[in-house]
Amino acid sequence: MAVNKVSTVTLKEMKQRGEKITVLTAYDYSTARMLDQAGIDVLLVGDSLGNVILGYDSTIPVTMEDMVSHTRAVSRGTTNALVVADMPFLSYHVSVAESVKNAGRLLQEAGANAVKLEGGREIADKVEAINAAGIPVMGHLGLTPQSVNKLGGYKVQGKDEAAARVIINNALALQDAGVFAIVLECIPAPLAKMVTERLDVPTIGIGAGASCDGQVLVIHDLLGLYSDVSPKFAKRYASLNTTIIEAVTKYKVDVKEKKFPGPEHSFGMEEGDLPKLY
Ligand code: KIV
Repeated sequence: MAVNKVSTVTLKEMKQRGEKITVLTAYDYSTARMLDQAGIDVLLVGDSLGNVILGYDSTIPVTMEDMVSHTRAVSRGTTNALVVADMPFLSYHVSVAESVKNAGRLLQEAGANAVKLEGGREIADKVEAINAAGIPVMGHLGLTPQSVNKLGGYKVQGKDEAAARVIINNALALQDAGVFAIVLECIPAPLAKMVTERLDVPTIGIGAGASCDGQVLVIHDLLGLYSDVSPKFAKRYASLNTTIIEAVTKYKVDVKEKKFPGPEHSFGMEEGDLPKLY
């Protein structure tokens, strides 16, 4: 294990000393290497790959095979960050035994350090069993995209008192079940602050205000790579979509106008050498 490898213990210590935790999604080797080199604490292989990599309109079609494949690539590109892999839709709902087995695959076959599950009290038995198998678990409350059909869309959660109370109770239930951190997605900032203050484990916010112990963004939103939609809560730090289209257009023009490849990109062989190749 690398000397500076981030662990679940590191994250708890960061919360205790008030140091913010940085989390970004990653889905491939090259991106994972860059984010790791930049010193991001946690790389989340999110099932948002269903949207931004595979082109689905939700995370529901994402399979265990998708998650194993992308997590393997991210793990190979990561030295220091903690790699957390999302458990996809229905991979932790059928039975406790199947949940433990699927979580185990993400560590044993794919090299993740931890897994993330969406839901509260209703999945506490699965969280407890996975944790008991030595697999660290991250929780995810508020807007849980795998339940989009039940939630009636991608909407802010916990807006009234009853709904806020459910989120607080679910956070406490997950903490009791042994999670090492909880993602809070799309909930009012004062509620996220309250949850963060009530918990010993760190909260990681996305659309949940500045009081969470850390922040997570989808890397495609941060880099301006995904042109379909950009959530209100995401901050764009670059517009790589435009940069890539411009670069590719220049390449196209160069090839059409016979400017690429030039002599500097070709192997310098005399024509008489060619027969020796065969
Ligand atoms: O799948 C994902 O990318 C996530 C983050 C948005 C938290 O769950």
